[in-house]
Amino acid sequence: MWYFRAPRVFAFGEGALDYLKEVEGNRAFVVTDKTIVKLGFLDLVMEKLKESGKEVASFDGVTPEPPEEIVYESLKVAQKFNPDLIIGLGGGSVLDVAKVTQVLFEHPDLPMLEIMPLTPITIKKTTLIAIPTTSGTGSDATASAIITNTKEKYKMELNHPVLIPHTSILDPLLTKSLPPKVIASSGMDALAQAIDGYTVQWRNDFSNGLCIHSTRMILEYLPQVYENPEDSKAREKLHNAASISGLAWSNSFLGITHSFGHAMGAVFRIPHGITVGMVLPYSIEYAMKTHSNLYGELARAVGAAKSSDDDKVATIKLRDKIVKIMKELEVPRSLKEYGISKAKFEKNFDDLVRLTSESAVNIFNCREPTTEDMKRFWNYMYDGKSIDF
Ligand SMILES: [Fe+2]
Repeated sequence: MWYFRAPRVFAFGEGALDYLKEVEGNRAFVVTDKTIVKLGFLDLVMEKLKESGKEVASFDGVTPEPPEEIVYESLKVAQKFNPDLIIGLGGGSVLDVAKVTQVLFEHPDLPMLEIMPLTPITIKKTTLIAIPTTSGTGSDATASAIITNTKEKYKMELNHPVLIPHTSILDPLLTKSLPPKVIASSGMDALAQAIDGYTVQWRNDFSNGLCIHSTRMILEYLPQVYENPEDSKAREKLHNAASISGLAWSNSFLGITHSFGHAMGAVFRIPHGITVGMVLPYSIEYAMKTHSNLYGELARAVGAAKSSDDDKVATIKLRDKIVKIMKELEVPRSLKEYGISKAKFEKNFDDLVRLTSESAVNIFNCREPTTEDMKRFWNYMYDGKSIDF
């Protein structure tokens, strides 16, 4: 048996923030970060909540690649305020902290690592609303949250249906002030997720169409938004596409862009989108040996290849299109290009391989990597060499 799970409501397009006035609830707790406060978005959201008579409180301490300590800080503030609405306002890190805050608010004794599919968890007291301010993770639509375990230097890949927000609000106004680096990084994350979602072993009839459509939209609109962030139509399309990418992979799964990406992020503290974006062309090359049919099909469906191109040709065209976009977005193609020294790479090599192999996503990749393959993959990715094994 399979499931397709999604938020109950997507409010999207210009003015979508006004949906906050229609949301039921009396006490709204907003989780966010300092940048969002500075941009005035927290005030904007607070005003709309107050207009509909709600009491409000906030926590603005979320940091990138959030450590578990931050979740507990957010939880403390929530427990004091006792909300019936929990709102994540920010990028993927903020949304993930809001999601886990909600679960722990309802179940304070639950160890974070037990937020996994087989644990019985129910949500009764609060409603979760996600308001993404980057166009990337699609966390507003997914059943997952990534929290960093700082002591043991790895990323906890939490996953449970209760992590899917009740409502996702996609207002392109909130992506207006994104720095180019964040547009590039979050957009590459959305792209890697949509492509993984189409090619992993759990691909299915319900998610495939969403993967194709979001891949097509991201390939078209990500370079446009990077080039001209004032283009509000392109920004709206990219914002929607990122959320669709989240919805798509959350109902299928992720592949090795995310096992290698999470390991790279945990060891070298490189932003998530840059890591998975960097892995993407290599993961396509790695899959070509056994599964060019999937990538070929996707390449033709999204217009990256001609309908007459065979699978291998189409797959290479898709990879080339992605590499071209990465150049436009100034996303590094290798660890060396990112600026990691050979000595630092070698010193951390065993950790990189161990963390990659411990990730849950490897077994879902269309071609499951062996530990030996992972070692070679890392070396190729350090030098920027095309995968030929
Ligand atoms: Fe991701």
